Amino acid sequence: MIEVRNLVKRFRQFTALRGITFSIRDGEFVAVLGVNGAGKSTLLKILSGILYPDSGEVMVNNFVPYKRKKEFLKNIALVNPQKTRLIIDLPPMDNFRLFGSAYGLGKKEVHKKAESLAQMLNVESKLKNQVRTLSFGERVKMEIILGLLHNPSVIFLDEPFIGLDFISRKQLISFLDAFKGKKTLIITSHIIEGIKELVDTVLVLHKGEIAAKMSTDEIKAILQNRVTIEVKAEQEIKLPQVFKAKEYGVYSAFVDKHDEAAILKEIENIPGILEMSVKTPELEDFVEELITSK
Ligand SMILES: Nc1ncnc2c1ncn2[C@@H]1O[C@H](COP(=O)(O)OP(=O)(O)O)[C@@H](O)[C@H]1O
Ligand SMILES: [Mg+2]
Repeated sequence: MIEVRNLVKRFRQFTALRGITFSIRDGEFVAVLGVNGAGKSTLLKILSGILYPDSGEVMVNNFVPYKRKKEFLKNIALVNPQKTRLIIDLPPMDNFRLFGSAYGLGKKEVHKKAESLAQMLNVESKLKNQVRTLSFGERVKMEIILGLLHNPSVIFLDEPFIGLDFISRKQLISFLDAFKGKKTLIITSHIIEGIKELVDTVLVLHKGEIAAKMSTDEIKAILQNRVTIEVKAEQEIKLPQVFKAKEYGVYSAFVDKHDEAAILKEIENIPGILEMSVKTPELEDFVEELITSK
């Protein structure tokens, strides 16, 4: 169980988290989504006890994280593949033995655990190769295995998809999916694709505040009643306000299905439009609307 109440975190004059409140059940899978600088990593660092809050209350498994009690640390993992913990001159397995001993894990135990996790992630043939020789994706996987060796019940996973190709991303998603019902997962990402199928709950952070916290079922219900209208034009053109510029000459509107016909009619005679398309919206459209309307 994770309980956060009125959590504030400041870095000098800058407030990174502005009094946020939420709770997470045991076994819940939660995605914390938001653009760069939203406060996602700061939140995970506070939940895992690396940073202390300036005010508010935080409880994880009935512990105050920043007190860093042994029993607390034994049950959580913070994995941030961007910040490698692995020693690159050693093979992953030697790293696992080394880090495992810090958790009081024996050699055999570490081997067994590492091999089964590596098999699930398709990297068992790389366990004895020097970390520096691994591909980026393989290294990310090894970093995740390292975080899971001590069998934590709560996993904080910070931006694991950065730099992964879509196959590795899918593999990682189905790997995490295998822990459903067994562990609690809080995963941050600014890459949204594939996330909706993995998690139970989406928490959107924006400028240090919670823009939304919803179940994926609620989001699916909302998306069912919406469409995304995309317009491509030769150059920048003026469109009704519901349209947002995506890139040069590309606009999109995330609207209610009932308004679709009226909007298409409204824009049909606007000069300069090359292409108009109507799509089933994605979670990404929803998150974008939430944070750009703030
Ligand atoms: N140690 C720090 N010192 C000063 N500012 C920080 C520090 N850590 C984070 N911040 C600022 O807090 C904000 C949120 O950062 P972060 O939690 O890393 O965002 P996210 O992970 O969502 O991209 C950013 O504006 C960042 O610059
Ligand atoms: Mg971050």
